[in-house]
Amino acid sequence: MTVTDPAALRQRALTALTTARERTGLLTSCVEDDELTAQHSPLMSPLVWDLAHIGNQEEQWLWRAVAGRDALRPEIDSIYDAFEHPRATRPTLPLLPPAEARAYASDVRGRVLDVLERTPLEGRPLVEAAFAFGMIAQHEQQHDETMLITHQLRTGPAALTAPPPPPPATETGALPAEVLVPGGPFTMGTSDEAWALDNERPAHTRVVPAFFIDTVPVTNGAYMAFVADGGYTDERWWQAEGWAQIRRHDIGAPLFWHRSGGQWLRRRFGVTEPVPEDEPVVHVSWYEADAYARWAGRRLPTEAEWEKAARHDPATGRSRRYPWGDADPAPVHANLGQRHLGPAAAGSYPEGASPLGVRQLIGDVWEWTSSDFLPYPGFIAFPYKEYSQVFFGPAHKVLRGGSFAVDAVACRGTFRNWDLPVRRQIFSGFRTARNAEPV
Ligand code: AVJ
Ligand code: FE
Repeated sequence: MTVTDPAALRQRALTALTTARERTGLLTSCVEDDELTAQHSPLMSPLVWDLAHIGNQEEQWLWRAVAGRDALRPEIDSIYDAFEHPRATRPTLPLLPPAEARAYASDVRGRVLDVLERTPLEGRPLVEAAFAFGMIAQHEQQHDETMLITHQLRTGPAALTAPPPPPPATETGALPAEVLVPGGPFTMGTSDEAWALDNERPAHTRVVPAFFIDTVPVTNGAYMAFVADGGYTDERWWQAEGWAQIRRHDIGAPLFWHRSGGQWLRRRFGVTEPVPEDEPVVHVSWYEADAYARWAGRRLPTEAEWEKAARHDPATGRSRRYPWGDADPAPVHANLGQRHLGPAAAGSYPEGASPLGVRQLIGDVWEWTSSDFLPYPGFIAFPYKEYSQVFFGPAHKVLRGGSFAVDAVACRGTFRNWDLPVRRQIFSGFRTARNAEPV
């Protein structure tokens, strides 16, 4: 995207901010206020914390940093500082009650729309191409995904509804199981995508030897075979910390699955139903993904392999913005933006395929890679170290591609997500890979 016309940039920023706020409204109005202040899981914040944190980040970056104005409520900054207070302790803070949190976020937004109108979108890196506005829209959408995870962990009757994803265009069995990605250099990361975040930069060359990668994400049906084969009781497949986790917590299937009457059921957003075999598996940890891959005689792709499969066009040697090309995501390309409340069946979205025919790289489920979250050569923290830099290192594994719960504004072929390898409540799945024999 190289939009430089200020009116077009302002329109793009306005649309992104408005889309995010509509979604935040949906996620915080579909339950009663007492459910906004409740702690649905020690893994998550009360929903009302996310709501005011969204407003507070927007105030800090767009009202204070961009517009140079004074803090509206300096006394609440520390309450909404994610580093000062771990999620489990947030219910004990003097949080703004729901009505106040809503009023605060909407007061900030009103001021920010005025700032967007008046601020020249050039001269400072923070405002160049409306970057800070795009960053804040992405931040809100990221917390919307976090709030959707809280909704999934919440028990009780369904509060959210959405139509099911479209049926698969191609039966999984009719697709080749894997695709060969030829060896050689490709361009990883980006230097010219206006709203790309610091960890996606800069563009650089990576040499990636030839490898095979699954055409579609690993399905529930394939994963059931691993479970049925005793995958969770055979230490051979597991890294030591993963084995310790499944033994300690007596884990024997993906999160939200349970066995009943000889079949696997799952609970999703308040609805219990049989686990559909053709959907990508979701709610598995990195350790579970890694163990499955080993059991299958394969491995997880590295982050560079994943991005090469998603972006490299062998015909031109260029890296695309998305598997399907440079066009922004449309509903025919990928399952994004919480349009549906789960992944689409494997084999869906033929129009979203990569040049080599790899499907569903974008949307549906986040895909674990084998890689640690590390900076690219030439990385510069911008505009704050706490977005990426403090998380670099071997503790976090990279996830790619985005889930059904990610909005298009926060999803690109270069976008990098990360989490602890024990995490299972996130919308995480995976696909597998293997080395290609050198010719
Ligand atoms: C990029 C999804 C790992 O939710 O922890 C939100 C995004 N950073 N507020 C997270 C984020 C600050 C971040 N992830
Ligand atoms: Fe945040």
